[in-house]
Amino acid sequence: MSITVRLVGWSDWARTVEVEPSIYAADFSRLGVQLGALVEAGARVFHFDAGDGHFIPEITIGPVVLTSISPLVHAWGGVLDCHLMVEQPERHFESVAQAGGDSVTFHVEACSDPAGAITRARSLGLGVGIAFSPDTPVEEAAAAAEGADLVLCMSIHPGYSGQTFMPEAASRIAQLRTLLPEMTRVQVDGGINADTARLARKAGADLLVAGSAVFWHDDLAGAYIALAESVKEQLRD
Ligand code: DX5
Ligand code: ZN
Repeated sequence: MSITVRLVGWSDWARTVEVEPSIYAADFSRLGVQLGALVEAGARVFHFDAGDGHFIPEITIGPVVLTSISPLVHAWGGVLDCHLMVEQPERHFESVAQAGGDSVTFHVEACSDPAGAITRARSLGLGVGIAFSPDTPVEEAAAAAEGADLVLCMSIHPGYSGQTFMPEAASRIAQLRTLLPEMTRVQVDGGINADTARLARKAGADLLVAGSAVFWHDDLAGAYIALAESVKEQLRD
């Protein structure tokens, strides 16, 4: 497969507007080929969802899969943004780093010491984000975000791909944007399609995660490009 390489690292992508294909929604029998097609289409930040069957009921994917794909993604100039939907997330930072993850975004609801976890992630050379679920006050997430690169506002209850964007997420993103320093990025995850991506972007999101809207199509590249174009046209308020 011939792929055009664009070299990026966390410090680059966390400062740009990105549509991030969420690997959770992939066809795992064709994962490498699907990722390659998306890189060719311009994707460079891939969202990787680890779920432990406790913080969320689902057991998803973890370091073993990350180890398989990280050399490919890195050789293609991409990065792996890891969303940890797990209890005591800091216990897994080291294995994520060893498996080639570039960042860890952990849930404020699952961590008793977010500041310590941020420090731990940094010491392993990882980028770091704080995620929060729809029932968590926005202020709580913003207060825990000092020193993080991004804050992830969930627009669904975390668990699985293919759910519908919760409309109240738009105002939660807008509120979050006002509470964070400009350099801290706002990410949104759940039910993102061309319409909801525009809404989220307008409200202040810079990093838009999309699972089913990218992977549940025969033409992955076309689906990714259409989504990326819709976001590009929509400026932040
Ligand atoms: C689910 C995950 C998401 C999921 C999104 O909790 O965090 O990243 O893959 O899938 P869509 O975009 O289909 O809602
Ligand atoms: Zn996710």
